[in-house]
Amino acid sequence: MSGLEKRIHDAVHGQPQPTVTVLSSLLAVEDELGYIPKEALDFVAGFSNATVNDVWAVASFYPNFRFEPPADHVVEVCWGASCHLLGAMGVFKSVLEAAGMEDEGDTPDQRLTVRMNTCLGACSQAPVMSMDHHLTGRVSPESAARNVAYLLEQEGHA
Ligand code: FES
Repeated sequence: MSGLEKRIHDAVHGQPQPTVTVLSSLLAVEDELGYIPKEALDFVAGFSNATVNDVWAVASFYPNFRFEPPADHVVEVCWGASCHLLGAMGVFKSVLEAAGMEDEGDTPDQRLTVRMNTCLGACSQAPVMSMDHHLTGRVSPESAARNVAYLLEQEGHA
């Protein structure tokens, strides 16, 4: 078993909740790897007694899954109600500007992925962003830009 296959296997088998579905298994893989590789579609199909087409139908329905490895660093800006009310739009603009991007996605050099998240689960700290899965709350446009600049100085996490 390759390292990738082992991580997929462990993510799918390690789900703590009582009800495991195709969707929950895909989410577990996305959480572990940051994307859904082809190997995971095959594995989840076998694990769930479903066809690869069934698994693909679920995976492709949800816009938050990605099928290519993420860039070296991943920044998420929360776009949920609490964060929105407390300035998420300014934070998001500032993050894009610091990254030299027009919209969410990957930088051409694959150094940074920027995306919006519907709730990062720390609403009382709004507005919230995450940098390589570390949450930071009460960010301002200025601190968000500094956070992105700092992250881009670091080596990749993968
Ligand atoms: S709405 Fe932003 S963390 Fe929940």
